Amino acid sequence: MYYPEELVEEIRSKNDIVDVVSGYVRLQKKGGNYWACCPFHGEKTPSFSVSGSKQMYHCFGCGVSGNVYTFVMKYENYSFPEAVKLLADRAGVKVPEMEYTEEQKARAGRRARLLELNKEAAKFFYYQLRSPRGETGLKYLRGRELTGETIQRFGLGYAGKNGAEPVQYLRSKGFEDELIKEAGLAVFSEKNGLRCQFWNRVMYPIQDVNNRVIGFGGRVMGDGEPKYLNSPETPVFDKRRNLYGLNFARTARSGNIIICEGYMDVISMHQAGFTQAVASLGTAFTPEQANLLRRYTDTVLLAYDSDGAGVKAALRGIGILRDAGLTAKVINMRPYKDPDEFMKALGREAFQERIDQAENSFFYEIRMMGEQYDMNDPESKTKFHREIAKRLCGFTEDVERDNYLQAVAEKYFIGIENLRKLVASYAAQTGLAKPVERPRSGTRKSSPEESARKAQRLLLTWITDDPAVYEKVRKYVGPEDFTEELYRRVAERLFADMDGGAFHPAGIISTFEDVEEQREAAELFNTNLPELATKQDREKAFHDILFSVKKNSYEYFSARLGSDVNALNQVIAGKKALEELAKAHISLD
Ligand code: GTP
Ligand code: MN
Repeated sequence: MYYPEELVEEIRSKNDIVDVVSGYVRLQKKGGNYWACCPFHGEKTPSFSVSGSKQMYHCFGCGVSGNVYTFVMKYENYSFPEAVKLLADRAGVKVPEMEYTEEQKARAGRRARLLELNKEAAKFFYYQLRSPRGETGLKYLRGRELTGETIQRFGLGYAGKNGAEPVQYLRSKGFEDELIKEAGLAVFSEKNGLRCQFWNRVMYPIQDVNNRVIGFGGRVMGDGEPKYLNSPETPVFDKRRNLYGLNFARTARSGNIIICEGYMDVISMHQAGFTQAVASLGTAFTPEQANLLRRYTDTVLLAYDSDGAGVKAALRGIGILRDAGLTAKVINMRPYKDPDEFMKALGREAFQERIDQAENSFFYEIRMMGEQYDMNDPESKTKFHREIAKRLCGFTEDVERDNYLQAVAEKYFIGIENLRKLVASYAAQTGLAKPVERPRSGTRKSSPEESARKAQRLLLTWITDDPAVYEKVRKYVGPEDFTEELYRRVAERLFADMDGGAFHPAGIISTFEDVEEQREAAELFNTNLPELATKQDREKAFHDILFSVKKNSYEYFSARLGSDVNALNQVIAGKKALEELAKAHISLD
């Protein structure tokens, strides 16, 4: 543990989990809990719940659970100390710096320095654009119909013709040459020394969702090669996991996010009021980016260029979005090339119409496929219909498949029954797509050991869901009855807390150092309890669980009699308690 336990607990208690999680995903209140689509696996209906009283989250779909620390670690891909730091800053708690190991300090320090450097560089370019020397840059941007406000909002800048200047500026701010190179801002040559990579270009700082400058794109003013120069990947610039404009789009609340190809598209869309527009960073759209988007929306509209490359990119994007469990639609930009040109020519209302008419991704795929077939040739047309049938087999749900089947049949004038038969024959040949298997928490084999563990988990969850039952549990069961090592450690903490009148199950998770152990500890408080309607059923279930825990403990220690002195005491006490428990009626009032 890098930090004192009390500090870790103080920071945790000052960061309400509902508050923190809602900064990342859209939570909706339902009953006593908050719900969202799970940020950790693809899904369309919310099974991710956050409990304010437990200060924990749990996904009923993929089984993840944890507290505010494990959430930040998982979501941000942070180590534990990094999560502590983030949440401490968030709550205004001071943490001692020297608790990092040297290596961690160096790594975190270097990332932080790179971000500082990028920020300084962005400032430099920004002021250059507004200086007399930046006039050409400003003229270029104005020529592209960007308002002063837009230029400001996106922090646009200008890299002048003197490549030594930005380097000198950064040096004067205390950045070493090594770091300037590592940031991808400058290269060294024998002839010129260290020179800025970006030369005579307008500069687009690329920001992450937290508004930190992580890289740059630079555009030539007018024609020239390459049109855009992008920063290389660096420790702070991961092109697969960031999207241009997402820092604004994440709070757009428009019900969808629009992906376009270029920075300029994003900027002109935002200027027109479509602040939900983002673009990938000069590379193809990635599954990581789809996952990122899933935190903010369930519908993604593709506004790719209307040329051949754009169509290809859209078809690829659709597959990725679908795999991530997102609904994808395609915006038709014709007759214009991209959103930027469309906006200039027809304006925002016309674009809004295109959004409203965005095409369902399945129909888009079929339509694009159709363009490769000659509908006047019966043979070619038949092949097309076969392809449609094959693709329909991709729908796992009968109702959905049939709805699409009917719609497609109507659209392409295919007899519904014929198409049905065709689908059936393909399904028979190749099988329908199977629903995607999600990992579940309860998939371990149910050996006797596992059912014993399960009872122990259920009991811990029951206590944390309804702390009032603790008193009743305590009469029969103690922490020593939890025979699984990790469970016992958790129970010891929980019981000790509750004996002292405290209740912080979420805090217990962070007392484990190992991430795997944290995960397992969190699971203990988030087992799926049986849903029981009547009080009688609940009392019976509660009794069964208690009995099962006690019985297992009795058997466990009996088996160890002779080798362990403590075991004898346990067994004697256990037998008595078990007999009592068997007779007892435990009311849950
Ligand atoms: P404008 O011509 O300024 O309107 O650009 P755009 O935003 O419409 O970009 P375009 O559709 O031409 O390209 C899409 C994206 O691909 C750009 O935003 C860049 O990220 C990237 N890109 C374009 N040209 C180049 C290039 O020459 N080199 C590299 N590395 N990336 C490029
Ligand atoms: Mn363009």
